[in-house]
Amino acid sequence: MRWLTTVSLAFGALARLTDAASCTGVWAVSPNCTSNEVAYKRDFFYIGGEYVYNASLSGSIFSDQLYVEKLTPQTGVNRTNPIVFISAGVPSGAVWLNTPDNRRGWASYFLDHGYQVYILDITSVGRSAQPQFSVFPMKIGSTDNITRNDYTAPELIDPYPQSQNHTQWPGTGVRGDPYFDAFMAAMIPLTSNATRLELTMRKNGCQLLEMIGSSFVVSHSAGSTYATLLSDECPSLVKASVNIEPGNTPFQSLVGNSTVPAVGRTSARPYGLTTTEIGYVPALNSSSDLETVTVGEDTAGNRSCIMQTEPAHQLPNIAKVPYVAFTGAASPHITYDHCLINYLKQAGVDPEWIKLGDLGILGNGHFMYLEKNSDEIAAVVLDWMESR
Ligand SMILES: *[C@@H]1O[C@H](CO)[C@@H](O)[C@H](O)[C@H]1NC(C)=O
Ligand SMILES: *[C@@H]1O[C@H](CO)[C@@H](O)[C@H](O)[C@H]1NC(C)=O
Ligand SMILES: *[C@@H]1O[C@H](CO)[C@@H](O)[C@H](O)[C@H]1NC(C)=O
Ligand SMILES: *[C@@H]1O[C@H](CO)[C@@H](O)[C@H](O)[C@H]1NC(C)=O
Ligand SMILES: *[C@@H]1O[C@H](CO)[C@@H](O)[C@H](O)[C@H]1NC(C)=O
Ligand SMILES: *[C@@H]1O[C@H](CO)[C@@H](O)[C@H](O)[C@H]1NC(C)=O
Ligand SMILES: *[C@@H]1O[C@H](CO)[C@@H](O)[C@H](O)[C@H]1NC(C)=O
Ligand SMILES: *[C@@H]1O[C@H](CO)[C@@H](O)[C@H](O)[C@H]1NC(C)=O
Ligand SMILES: *[C@@H]1O[C@H](CO)[C@@H](O)[C@H](O)[C@H]1NC(C)=O
Repeated sequence: MRWLTTVSLAFGALARLTDAASCTGVWAVSPNCTSNEVAYKRDFFYIGGEYVYNASLSGSIFSDQLYVEKLTPQTGVNRTNPIVFISAGVPSGAVWLNTPDNRRGWASYFLDHGYQVYILDITSVGRSAQPQFSVFPMKIGSTDNITRNDYTAPELIDPYPQSQNHTQWPGTGVRGDPYFDAFMAAMIPLTSNATRLELTMRKNGCQLLEMIGSSFVVSHSAGSTYATLLSDECPSLVKASVNIEPGNTPFQSLVGNSTVPAVGRTSARPYGLTTTEIGYVPALNSSSDLETVTVGEDTAGNRSCIMQTEPAHQLPNIAKVPYVAFTGAASPHITYDHCLINYLKQAGVDPEWIKLGDLGILGNGHFMYLEKNSDEIAAVVLDWMESR
């Protein structure tokens, strides 16, 4: 470990020097360098929320609102449906603007292709921070260890066999590397109250879609939980649900472990895809009406899944919205995203699952939209959206 730290610091120092001379990486914003961003106009607004009287403050606060940033390409919009980007909420919405090594982010990519872009900070996060501390308590976003093991350098601890193929993260993926440090600096707190977070995202998200019209909802990781809620609440306003490694794995959260696969499996999301109720048919009296069974062998490279017992409750609203998930070849998600896809199918949804490895796009981890080939992946997503 000592050796690793020394090496990574040396690499970090080297990267800093190289980049300062070349206007790349964290040095791309130096005053002497020309911006690579696409030209756009920016507006912002808050949507949703309400006044809440607080006697001890002798006045009302405003709570539960959602921060939205609207970006319009300078050359004009030529697409019918806008894009709404939803992050996992560990980084804020800023994660769509550019990459930790300061290349163009996905916002720029889609602006460049004529889309109107809306970026959210999910409620409780960043500029959507909430003042009702008693019902919106906060927790950490991520630690250096979580970020390295799950996102930037899983290959170093080898938690699942596919991790050994991870090559796309820019830099070493460990502390001391300037891109890793920039990525960690963008990790901010979010609420630990998943119920409150889901209820506000469901309400505010559909209010936003009513205002801007039918949109492609592009979400990453836990952000896909909120995309699911929007499909359930206002399906006619979701042009398609585009899920980048969706984090709402049915009933559980999984962390890889090559020697003892069963380790790192925790209960989550009692309604399968969500913590709060979604529109199952036949209707549920409570989440415990969902009867489940574990299927498949549990290996580090391909995890077992929780499904409903037959006959399965259906999700007719979610089924109205075209659904696609994208999974990287070397990400922890390649070991378990089949669980979500199969669960959706069983509930009457017709999901598409695009495994980047099948397209010959190799080496991606969980934050694929920030990795070295982020534009190549954006092109695949763009193609899918254009086909709708
Ligand atoms: C910008 O360029 C000037 C002139 O070459 C140089 O003196 C200065 O140090 C540079 N600044 C940065 C931030 O690189
Ligand atoms: C919209 O404009 C962009 C940028 O000029 C261009 O790349 C794209 O092909 C156009 N798309 C359509 C559907 O017109
Ligand atoms: C009301 O304000 C007080 C003082 O800031 C705070 O401690 C309390 O949590 C607030 N109540 C609610 C429900 O947010
Ligand atoms: C979480 O939010 C819900 C919905 O607002 C609220 O009823 C509940 O009391 C909150 N729980 C905690 C632990 O703050
Ligand atoms: C977590 O990271 C710290 C450095 O921040 C390191 O000293 C420690 O050994 C790591 N712990 C585990 C369990 O990997
Ligand atoms: C896997 O879990 C076992 C048992 O808890 C633990 O000893 C081992 O260190 C873990 N391995 C990894 C790669 O996390
Ligand atoms: C790693 O990549 C190679 C080359 O694409 C492939 O043949 C192999 O199956 C991959 N290994 C795993 C465990 O996915
Ligand atoms: C909900 O409760 C009613 C009344 O007890 C019962 O008839 C029905 O089967 C329950 N629904 C489910 C899905 O269990
Ligand atoms: C993973 O397991 C599922 C069953 O849960 C199976 O359908 C699928 O083919 C397996 N995938 C691989 C790559 O072995």
